[in-house]
Amino acid sequence: MKNAVMTEAPDGKISWENILTSLEDGVILIDRNGKASFMNQAAETLTEISASQALHQPHTALFKKNAWLVEMVNKSRPPHQIASRGEGDLTSRRGRQVPVSLTVSPLQDRYGRPLGSVLVLRDLTHRKELEEDLKRSDRLAQLGTLAAGLAHEVKNPLGGIRGAAQLLKREVASNAALAQYADIVVREVDRVNLLIEQLLDLTRPTTLHLDPLNIHELLEEVLLLEREAVADWDVTVKKIFDPSLPPIMGDRAQLTQVFLNLIKNAFQAMNGKGRLTITTRMETDFHIREQGKKRNQFIWVDVEDDGPGIREEDLQHIFSPFFTTKNNGSGLGLAVCHRIVNEHGGLIRVESREGEGATFKVSLLVAE
Ligand SMILES: Nc1ncnc2c1ncn2[C@@H]1O[C@H](COP(=O)(O)OP(=O)(O)OP(=O)(O)O)[C@@H](O)[C@H]1O
Ligand SMILES: [Mg+2]
Repeated sequence: MKNAVMTEAPDGKISWENILTSLEDGVILIDRNGKASFMNQAAETLTEISASQALHQPHTALFKKNAWLVEMVNKSRPPHQIASRGEGDLTSRRGRQVPVSLTVSPLQDRYGRPLGSVLVLRDLTHRKELEEDLKRSDRLAQLGTLAAGLAHEVKNPLGGIRGAAQLLKREVASNAALAQYADIVVREVDRVNLLIEQLLDLTRPTTLHLDPLNIHELLEEVLLLEREAVADWDVTVKKIFDPSLPPIMGDRAQLTQVFLNLIKNAFQAMNGKGRLTITTRMETDFHIREQGKKRNQFIWVDVEDDGPGIREEDLQHIFSPFFTTKNNGSGLGLAVCHRIVNEHGGLIRVESREGEGATFKVSLLVAE
């Protein structure tokens, strides 16, 4: 949000309007007739209504898409005059949904006569996202303990089974059918082993080898690798790269893994035909991490496909280990991406609607 320019009155006092304007929280004043009489910049951004449009509009009209909010304002007005606090989704003028916390307080003059209401809105998007990240990291940590125990208990007997199956195969070499069964045992043991290895990879703390990297070079490399796999598919790849992007700070091998997984998923989702769009851009909003932390600069890489998209009920699960809708998927790809991006201090997000493709967005720190 822009900072308001502070103007000092001749007596050295700062006007309350200046203060309200520069607050990060949205502030809206409703007068005693139920009409908007003030709205600061943050409130304009959240509601997507400009202060000049809002002025003198009844709150019932301004917030007609937000019945819960109107109800809270009504409670703050005579005869009740009750302050209330709540959390909910704010639907903006253009229909965008933003999770917010809202406090509505009755305004009174010094004799207790009602003057109207004051609304304070706080954008909870980043808090919600960070809470989600934290929950996922927690789950991964629990899984780590489990995986280490599991690996220890299961890997040795698996080794035994594999060895025995190979011996058996030698013994029954003359019987092709039996030899084939032995092969299946070996193959399946290898599959379980691989799964355990991947699970361990996911939960093992890694050391990142951070270097300034050209993100476009890295993406080109991954595309080269992956395009081979879909060489005879009817797939177009569109690159919208911002050539002015600065180098990012990252571990080349790990980030290659991230974009490999994302692009692989996109191609798998297209299933033979489609369009992959990779976009890189600078983050213009600095408020991406927790407030109070150093304001680092980020870039975003968007990996977008026009496949079948993701069902709404699946969206919250796709970053969880072992969540897969594929017959032969392990469900670890996105969990790995999430871990790596998190370790890089970035974010990974998904936007998708069933039937309308999927976009995975990764933010990464710019090298200083
Ligand atoms: N681009 C996409 N379009 C539609 N669904 C997707 C897309 N990317 C991921 N998904 C969904 O998320 C699930 C989890 O993805 P993830 O990469 O973690 O595992 P996977 O692809 O199923 O298995 P693996 O990556 O281990 O081979 C997928 O099974 C799929 O349902
Ligand atoms: Mg995958």
